[in-house]
Amino acid sequence: MAKSTSGKPAVADSGAAPRTAPAPSDAKRAAGKRVVRVKAAAPAATTPRSAAAKAPAPRAKAPKATAPKATAPKATAPKATAPKATAPKATAPKATAPKATAPKAAPLEAAARTAPAAKMRPAREPGAIPASLALGEADGVGPTGRPRRTFPAPPALDRHGPARILAMCNQKGGVGKTTSTINLGAALAEAGRTVLLVDFDPQGALSVGLGVNPLQLDQTVYNLLMEPGIAVQDVMLKTDVAGLDLLPSNIDLSAAEVQLVNEVAREQTLRRVLAPVLDDYDVVLVDCQPSLGLLTVNALTAAHGVIIPLECEFFALRGVALLIQTIEKVRERLNPELELEGILATMYDARTLHGREVLARVVEAFGEKVFHTVINRTIRFPETTVAGEPITTYAPTSHGATAYRELALEVLAR
Ligand SMILES: Nc1ncnc2c1ncn2[C@@H]1O[C@H](COP(=O)(O)OP(=O)(O)OP(=O)(O)O)[C@@H](O)[C@H]1O
Ligand SMILES: [Mg+2]
Repeated sequence: MAKSTSGKPAVADSGAAPRTAPAPSDAKRAAGKRVVRVKAAAPAATTPRSAAAKAPAPRAKAPKATAPKATAPKATAPKATAPKATAPKATAPKATAPKATAPKAAPLEAAARTAPAAKMRPAREPGAIPASLALGEADGVGPTGRPRRTFPAPPALDRHGPARILAMCNQKGGVGKTTSTINLGAALAEAGRTVLLVDFDPQGALSVGLGVNPLQLDQTVYNLLMEPGIAVQDVMLKTDVAGLDLLPSNIDLSAAEVQLVNEVAREQTLRRVLAPVLDDYDVVLVDCQPSLGLLTVNALTAAHGVIIPLECEFFALRGVALLIQTIEKVRERLNPELELEGILATMYDARTLHGREVLARVVEAFGEKVFHTVINRTIRFPETTVAGEPITTYAPTSHGATAYRELALEVLAR
């Protein structure tokens, strides 16, 4: 039978206090923080740009990066010269933003190969960053440098299912997979969708993030995968968010990676065990572990779409080509329905040139596959993990909660 995460003694020790404490001050803190962030962002964003535009100093960096990359500068060099003159002007972004259309035609794998890692630091000076990215919130332009879009509230449903399964996947660790799974799931549930979250990582972070102590679980996803008599309902926990259910995991799941190797149709195991409940849910989100091993291949084989959370930081870009290759292979060999649902920029800080540059590169490479919604870096997310609840209930008026609500609408509109 399904149990409640709140009804269990399994709720994390630290969950009780923060759950009640932050509520009264939340609105104030959230409001205060937003004002501060907006005010702080403008000068921080403009200073490096104007400094870079005036001074030739940043160019000294270019030779360092271009030396080892023989091919990349070819494509970008002509672009780099044009914006130099226009960068200080506010009109620059319109000219540079349409770059995003180029990769649309190219296969995703090729786009990934040519873009982030290979072209991260060609001869491009900071002043060449589109002003739209630097400003982030400029007139009608979103942080991705494209025209800002709003997504309509989804229609109310009179019945649920069949579920669309989305794998939250990136073999790089700590990029926001689990945080995005929890908060996107909660936001989708708030929007009236029935959502099942699958903790497919032996670290059990998704379970902890929803207030469950993974060490006190009787049945987990491991049992569901490995024992024939176990059904989803035997493992599933109800969360405190209406419409949001959880299949929890703990370290036991790491054994499944080894044991599944000997199973017939080992890659289809997750798909097979989820099949009986797909009509009960509108969305299933699978939180993958940071690897491209058999568990992740299982998630990709079960999924209709993949969301790649991508930290706006250079090293985060380096594994994307490999991930895209893996997605292509799974699509060819195991799951023809699999699509790249979108790339979600996380931990974005508009005040840093680096963050803006990484986001610009991601949009340049993946175009419309990049979600318009961008998740900013904020301490509220680590706080929610301690509290054991989604940001949509922990700090409902915070920027982070709003961002995941927008993401939910964007996912439903895709
Ligand atoms: N937008 C954000 N701003 C600040 N901190 C964040 C943000 N998103 C996530 N974090 C924090 O970063 C850390 C890693 O996030 P998370 O666990 O979601 O990443 P992950 O990709 O699931 O990691 P792993 O690969 O280990 O499973 C956590 O402490 C989380 O609270
Ligand atoms: Mg995780």
